[in-house]
Amino acid sequence: MADATPLDDLKQLEGQALTQLQQCADEAALRAWNTQYFGDKGVMKTAMSNLAKIPKDQKPAYGAELNRIKAAITAAYEAALADAKEKALQVSLTTNPLDVTLPGRAPARGRLHPATQILRQIYSIFADLGFQVYRTREVETDELNFEFLNMPAHHPARDMWDTFFTTTPGVVLRTHTSPGQIHVMREAAGKPVRVILPGMCYRNEAISTRSEIQFYQVEGLVVGEGVTMADLKGTITAFARRMFGPERQVRIRSSYFPFTEPSIEVDIDWPKDDPNRDRLTKGTGWLEILGAGMVHPNVLRAGGYDPEKVTGFAFGMGPQRMLMLKHAIDDIRLFWQNDLRFLKQF
Ligand code: FA5
Repeated sequence: MADATPLDDLKQLEGQALTQLQQCADEAALRAWNTQYFGDKGVMKTAMSNLAKIPKDQKPAYGAELNRIKAAITAAYEAALADAKEKALQVSLTTNPLDVTLPGRAPARGRLHPATQILRQIYSIFADLGFQVYRTREVETDELNFEFLNMPAHHPARDMWDTFFTTTPGVVLRTHTSPGQIHVMREAAGKPVRVILPGMCYRNEAISTRSEIQFYQVEGLVVGEGVTMADLKGTITAFARRMFGPERQVRIRSSYFPFTEPSIEVDIDWPKDDPNRDRLTKGTGWLEILGAGMVHPNVLRAGGYDPEKVTGFAFGMGPQRMLMLKHAIDDIRLFWQNDLRFLKQF
């Protein structure tokens, strides 16, 4: 039997390459096969370098056969690789099914803070009663926060408001929205006034379930000819009916403020079925929501109005207390704690 020729060797190489290719089970095995045959030190490189040792007359046939084999096994490799990828895809689709028709995840929606919600409700009720919203500053002079409101320096009534002073003498964080009364009257310059003044107030007081050091107030001011206490009571009662509903009780009692005369305070009954009723109302069943009264002549004068010609009423209410009363919220501190478990309920 004659010795195997270089062409026979090539044929054998082709047979072996194709057999090994068929045995590759997955993409990784196929890629290893590719390196074995076509890598830098691969079988095909060696076969190529053998060309130098082939007798000259056999070189063309050897080269042609080598090229044919290279093309044939490359085509077989590419077909096998495509096949393996397709199989892997089918396996992943059946073992890990993906339902592209499922609805996407909705992004979480933000909402208004409960304090903002109750403020907007208050604006809307007073808008229906013909009031305009007027905003004034949170940093005030001692004059506006106290003096023009009929509380000269050293007046004992100043003790009703524990004040935060700034490092600038005579400048304070407003303890109530009442200084806004003076701003409005001076701007209205003698014309009738019917406004509410919402905003943040600050008091250096002991924080408790009913009192914060930073809280909202909504001031109200009506000035004109013939404004009476009956108008004040009617306005407050109409407001409370709209805010709390007809079944809740409104209590009006007399009180004292230096800037109103006479003065009243208004309470709403805490929900009767709430277990915290006694604790939050100090056993009375009532929670105060506002102070009010007929504007003192000295305050009208400070605003540029003649108390002989016009009268007025004013009130200062606590919106957060109102929300507490509406939903039996038993701690005012929840408003600024930023606990989403509380905030998301509104
Ligand atoms: C005043 O601040 C007066 N300026 C109200 C007023 C205006 C009277 C116009 C007459 C004419 P008082 O300190 O009571 O009053 O506060 C009014 C309301 O603000 C209270 O009824 C309460 O609802 C709310 N409030 C007061 N202090 C706090 C506090 N620390 N935390 C939360 N709410 C408060």
